[in-house]
Amino acid sequence: MARISVFGIGYVGVVSAACLARDGHDVIAVDVDPGKIEQINAGMSPIVENGLDPLIADAVKAGKLVATDDVQRAIDNTDASFIAVGTPSAPDGSVGLKYVEVVCESIGRALKNKDGFHSVVIRSTIVPGSCEGTCIPVLERESGKTAGVDFGMGYYPEFLRESTAIEDYYDPGLIVFGALDDGTAKILTELNEGLGCKIHVVDLRTAEMVKYCSNTWRAVKVTYANEIGNIAKACGLDGQTVMEILTSDTKAIISPYFMRPGFAFGGSCLPKDVRALRHLAREKGVPSYLLDATLEANEAQIQRAQKMVQDSGAQKVGFVGISFKPGTDDLRESPLATLASRLIANGIEVDIYDPYVHEAYANENSMAGRGNDVIPDLKDRMVADLDRLIDGSGAVLVGNFYGDAVEKLEKAAAERPVLDLTRMSRKMVSNGTYEGICW
Ligand SMILES: NC(=O)c1ccc[n+]([C@@H]2O[C@H](COP(=O)([O-])OP(=O)(O)OC[C@H]3O[C@@H](n4cnc5c(N)ncnc54)[C@H](O)[C@@H]3O)[C@@H](O)[C@H]2O)c1
Repeated sequence: MARISVFGIGYVGVVSAACLARDGHDVIAVDVDPGKIEQINAGMSPIVENGLDPLIADAVKAGKLVATDDVQRAIDNTDASFIAVGTPSAPDGSVGLKYVEVVCESIGRALKNKDGFHSVVIRSTIVPGSCEGTCIPVLERESGKTAGVDFGMGYYPEFLRESTAIEDYYDPGLIVFGALDDGTAKILTELNEGLGCKIHVVDLRTAEMVKYCSNTWRAVKVTYANEIGNIAKACGLDGQTVMEILTSDTKAIISPYFMRPGFAFGGSCLPKDVRALRHLAREKGVPSYLLDATLEANEAQIQRAQKMVQDSGAQKVGFVGISFKPGTDDLRESPLATLASRLIANGIEVDIYDPYVHEAYANENSMAGRGNDVIPDLKDRMVADLDRLIDGSGAVLVGNFYGDAVEKLEKAAAERPVLDLTRMSRKMVSNGTYEGICW
């Protein structure tokens, strides 16, 4: 069993403190608010949350949970501290770190006086880089010690939902944490073992980013459902029924599909159908902010790729893939075709390797190049041999993933600019010569 101090007896802090104590850990809750300290020590919950009152009453009675404002006592009598103070928005929308900074200062001062190893784990929601840019420097300055060596450091976001917080604690949908050192990783792993949920151990900044993606994704889902509800109502339909049916598709809709950062969407369905639903909404006098933004953001991703080519300085670009996705020769609304046509219009030479489109031409298929209405002389630009394409190009643009092309493209990336829109290999990240669109 661990000994843990929880700084900040707000929503997150009090739920974690109570659940940790119920699991048999020794918990010291720390706050600057004397009213909350008094309530906890009296066995009462300072907030209204399903099932929390008996947890706190039992834990305090059993001597497993105590509250104090004495930081040194909390640090001396525990092995790890969880920081769960508020991070309200600053007036410009940036994350407010003032409470996190103050609590790091006080923990840092207490760490200075402690001989044993102690882990500091941030649970507050903080933007990527905050642990490294704010928390660690403050803790090191105040303690005179080094993070990851003299004291442990972790970032362990909380995903609970108010009103079902205790249920969420014991049946989490996601567990992720970043740790600078093995000691902190061990404590966090032990606390989460047995919850029946995969534990993702990553670096501090990735864990910080996952927390924001979780909350912003929830917000996008709500907004999407509302927008669909508004359009559905204007059409005399029940939006909740529509969304219930939609979300029953766990293969394509509620799934990792279409959730992989990379290039723009295209093809014969998605762009035209987003446009059509948006048009229908307009006809009905209903705003469609998210559908509008979707088309705008998709166009911006094509422009981002165009800038990557321009920044490479190449006057001749070899495209690996031109169809709207691998495995097909369909070019209808392929964003790669749009990109190629814009480059050509700007005087950049474009050659293309695409085994599927090539096959259609080689077989003299009457539909060869089907759907292309933007690239001039498509057939003449096709190059059957990948080596020849690579050798003849100032930069290679990887638009579609072809498994048997990866080895050659990886080698090419050592010699010339390779601009990757699809992530041909998870090992590769932008390094100067190789440039990934989102990695
Ligand atoms: N509320 C949620 O459902 C939820 C869920 C997941 C994550 N989060 C994140 O967790 C963090 C905490 O959120 P919350 O809603 O629990 O906050 P809250 O505002 O309810 O509580 C913060 C607590 O910290 C205390 N505090 C402030 N300065 C302190 C200090 N120097 N030392 C000790 N205690 C101090 C305050 O008195 C208060 O009790 C935020 O970053 C939030 O974004 C919240």
